[in-house]
Amino acid sequence: MLGLRKRSKPAGEVSVSRREETKFRDVRIFLVERKMGRSRRSFLTQLARSKGFTVEDFLSETVTHVVSEDRQPSSLWPWLKASSLRNLSMKQVLDISWFTDSMRDGRPVPVETRHLIQDSWTEVSSPAPAMVSQYACKRRTETENHNKMFTDAFEVLAENYEFSEMEGPCLAFRRAASVLKSLPSAVESLRAAQDLPCLGEHTKAVMEEILRCGRSFEVEKILSDERFQTLKLFTSVFGVGPKTAEKWHRRGLRSFSEVLAEPSIHLNRMQQSGFLHYGDISRAVSKAEARAVGNIIDEAVRAITPDAMLTLTGGFRRGKEFGHDVDLIVTAAEPGREQNLLSEIIDSLKKQGILLFCEYQASTFDTTKLPSHRFEAMDHFAKCFLILRLEGSRVDEGLHSAEGDSRNWRAVRVDLVSPPADHFAFTLLGWTGSRQFERDLRRFARLERRMLLDNHALFDKTKKEFLTATTEKDIFDHLGLEYIEPWQRNA
Ligand code: CTP
Ligand code: MN
Ligand code: MN
Repeated sequence: MLGLRKRSKPAGEVSVSRREETKFRDVRIFLVERKMGRSRRSFLTQLARSKGFTVEDFLSETVTHVVSEDRQPSSLWPWLKASSLRNLSMKQVLDISWFTDSMRDGRPVPVETRHLIQDSWTEVSSPAPAMVSQYACKRRTETENHNKMFTDAFEVLAENYEFSEMEGPCLAFRRAASVLKSLPSAVESLRAAQDLPCLGEHTKAVMEEILRCGRSFEVEKILSDERFQTLKLFTSVFGVGPKTAEKWHRRGLRSFSEVLAEPSIHLNRMQQSGFLHYGDISRAVSKAEARAVGNIIDEAVRAITPDAMLTLTGGFRRGKEFGHDVDLIVTAAEPGREQNLLSEIIDSLKKQGILLFCEYQASTFDTTKLPSHRFEAMDHFAKCFLILRLEGSRVDEGLHSAEGDSRNWRAVRVDLVSPPADHFAFTLLGWTGSRQFERDLRRFARLERRMLLDNHALFDKTKKEFLTATTEKDIFDHLGLEYIEPWQRNA
């Protein structure tokens, strides 16, 4: 392991004397004096501050959590409303139990229904607006999307910005799409979108047009744009990214046949396989096919070392019916065994004659070089990107083939990664996705917790130590986040 220390002090331990720096930037508490009394309020304020919480002396717009000892909505709410705060509906109004739980754990515990002091008047007149977080890792997003009409449009805009290397607006549309995907129903008016986070002027203008006309003219213009269409076509080939696509387009190439006929273009191995198996690997992989691939790899792994474990991850773990590939993690119980495991699996697949393509990347992971402050997207574990030949006879429900295709096999893209066992939880969390969920987990860790998260580890910058985890739940706990199930991470 990484010479890690266990994290927290024993529960309930109080150290009022030592003043710690602010740790939880997204939580600003106000303690209501009524019923609590002045001296208890002052004691609780000091206690919380000593644990790194921000406690405001006055009720203001910046307060996020109002805590009251008085559980009576009938006395608390009229008083709160009289304060004439503009953003009252955005504040959590909580029972003292949330505060004591948070003091006990030394971090803000997730708000549960039992903590809430609800305004009985708003409850009957209109359902309290559920707070939607700006962070995808604080939202539950299942596979069903009630706002596809908007999110499809946003994704076209985001992709178009990506092709122009305009990261800011690209991310803004991805964030907006992600927020709408988490909603339990369709947005039917701009007013309903008013209090949602991450929706800027441009986004709202697109939504307004779609609400009014059923479509966005800006999106339609992009979709019919020759450059967009060509870049979209080229990047659909395995191994061709936006840079290469752009290069080909600039040279006047517009179709696959033009690319393939151009003698000065040198395709790398990945791109060659991408073109060779284009029909198959551009067609979605079904859940049954993913299961069959899992079984094939599992048999290979078991023949090599019986104590190894194979875990399905990526989109299929999030409950998706179809995916563009199959993502699998393989771990060995024996430390160091993961170093050669992938090469041996690859050999076995080769011997079976089902390996159509393989790009293997040996591990560059080095615990002695931690903490690494380059918490980039790509991880350092041993991994391989494969194309496998999948026989129809191996698939329960038969192959997901193109119409008129009489072959009894198809090519499938497979990603395999092999982390050391004590980093499994981080790898699982990182490879389960979605990409937007991962991005926001990292952003949340960095901005709200002063921690660095990636596929290898979680580093607490305040304590200057790594936090260990054997399950994904451990990682959510370290981050002070409510656990989000894999099928709720389709952000
Ligand atoms: N990932 C990663 N490092 C890589 C490759 C992928 O961390 N070298 C992560 C991605 O961030 C993503 C997850 O692995 O969260 C799955 O990647 P991918 O297969 O591209 O996406 P899916 O969500 O599985 O979508 P699909 O169903 O289309 O395959
Ligand atoms: Mn995938
Ligand atoms: Mn993948």
